[in-house]
Amino acid sequence: MRPKKAVIVLGSPRKNGNSASLARETAEGIMTSGSECESFFLHKMDIKPCDACDLCRKNIEDPCIIDDDMQIIYPKLRQADVLVIAGPVYFATVSAQTKLFMDRCYALSGPVDSALKGKRIGTILTYEDPDPFVSGAVNALRTFQDVYNYVGATIIGNVYGSALEPGEIKKNRDVMNRAFELGKKLVDFE
Ligand SMILES: Cc1cc2nc3c(=O)[nH]c(=O)nc-3n(C[C@H](O)[C@H](O)[C@H](O)COP(=O)(O)O)c2cc1C
Repeated sequence: MRPKKAVIVLGSPRKNGNSASLARETAEGIMTSGSECESFFLHKMDIKPCDACDLCRKNIEDPCIIDDDMQIIYPKLRQADVLVIAGPVYFATVSAQTKLFMDRCYALSGPVDSALKGKRIGTILTYEDPDPFVSGAVNALRTFQDVYNYVGATIIGNVYGSALEPGEIKKNRDVMNRAFELGKKLVDFE
């Protein structure tokens, strides 16, 4: 099996929070097979909202003209086989950091650059309320499902669990193990 390339985007402001803890397990799972993994902590990156100029639908030379840190992530995404998107539920859906990243992936989903097409996706979500309907995790999962369906990518697995304080999720061995297994599965293809 050839080594794969994976990009992990962290959508929580807590660098050592619950979604980041699960993402680390997924990274471990990815790396067991000798695949590479690069993580981006979105909260400390300069990522502006999409301004709907639509040049990414027309401009072959320079698909997204916004001069910010997405220009660091775009080439990594183009080269990657796998994308892991990890973050908390905030007010019943994905965090703002996660949503900014997803909106800017519009530039990789059009006729000029359709780099997200065919990518293997893993999603990680953490939230307080143990009921995924009450917490809003279901909304976030639905968002991932519709977004990655639209861009022609395939969700290989979703790992989600309830925890409040940073790192609390580590006590939940079952979900930690599921995150690790997700990593292995994401890179398990020819
Ligand atoms: C601004 C804010 C909004 C939140 N909204 C929700 C919510 O709607 N539903 C929920 O179950 N938990 C909510 N939480 C709790 C977090 O999702 C929870 O603490 C999660 O484990 C954080 O993950 P992290 O450590 O990766 O940031 C919220 C927390 C904050 C700070």
